[in-house]
Amino acid sequence: MSSPGQFRKITTQTFMIMKQKGIKISALTAYDFITAKLIDNAGVDLILVGDSLSNVFQGNLTTLPVTMDEMIYHTNAVAKGVQRAMIITDMPFMSYQPGADEAFRNAGRIMKETPSGGVKLEGGKNVADAIFKITSAGIPVMGHVGLTPQSIHQFGSYRERGTTDEEAEGILRDAKIVEEAGAFCVVLEKIPAKLAKKISEMLKIPTIGIGAGMHCDGQILVTPDMLGLNKEFKPRFVRYYADLTTEIENAVKKFTEDVKSSSFPTEQESY
Ligand code: KIV
Repeated sequence: MSSPGQFRKITTQTFMIMKQKGIKISALTAYDFITAKLIDNAGVDLILVGDSLSNVFQGNLTTLPVTMDEMIYHTNAVAKGVQRAMIITDMPFMSYQPGADEAFRNAGRIMKETPSGGVKLEGGKNVADAIFKITSAGIPVMGHVGLTPQSIHQFGSYRERGTTDEEAEGILRDAKIVEEAGAFCVVLEKIPAKLAKKISEMLKIPTIGIGAGMHCDGQILVTPDMLGLNKEFKPRFVRYYADLTTEIENAVKKFTEDVKSSSFPTEQESY
């Protein structure tokens, strides 16, 4: 485990200043040391150890199976590669839903057992007590409203949220509640750009969008998605910044050919 006393350059205050100055926040996910080091060196502002690790790292269909111990394990791996960005750890399913006391204990575990800068949890009114209790102890909380993947079985699909007036009102209210409860920023997932604009203008804290249009104060993507490593999953909001699937396939094909034709390793590559 790296030192829990380690400070990174970007803090919750940095994000407030960025919002006030109109400087957009870039955020990506990471689950391992090498990726975290690469994206930190490349200048991303916030690194989320997302519970999407359940999907893209563990190969599960939903985010539900990932555990507290696994989130802690991956946060420690990520933290060793990060010097600048703020690290946030997702609270996994059932680590906060049972109530504010359980949420508080588990947020405390993340902060004690990793050098994370804070935690993220999904929901609005239903998690306001938890956010209040966690932030009152000095632990930064990132909220998450709109599409909340941990509630997939309640909704039955990953469709866009906030498309009816009633749903949009509910998301707007939840975003305000999350801010009032003490969150330092909030993820807006898969909601209409118009609604995200309204929320971003209404809140003092920054909004970080994923599938929420251009008016958010920052943007987050799942790193394997934006690197073209997860091509079976291509919602409209994912932009490919690289085609690592093709790069890796070509590299592995070439390596296999070289091994089979005995052209790897050469004498120079031997001892
Ligand atoms: O777990 C995750 O990667 C997330 C982002 C999609 C915001 O919650």
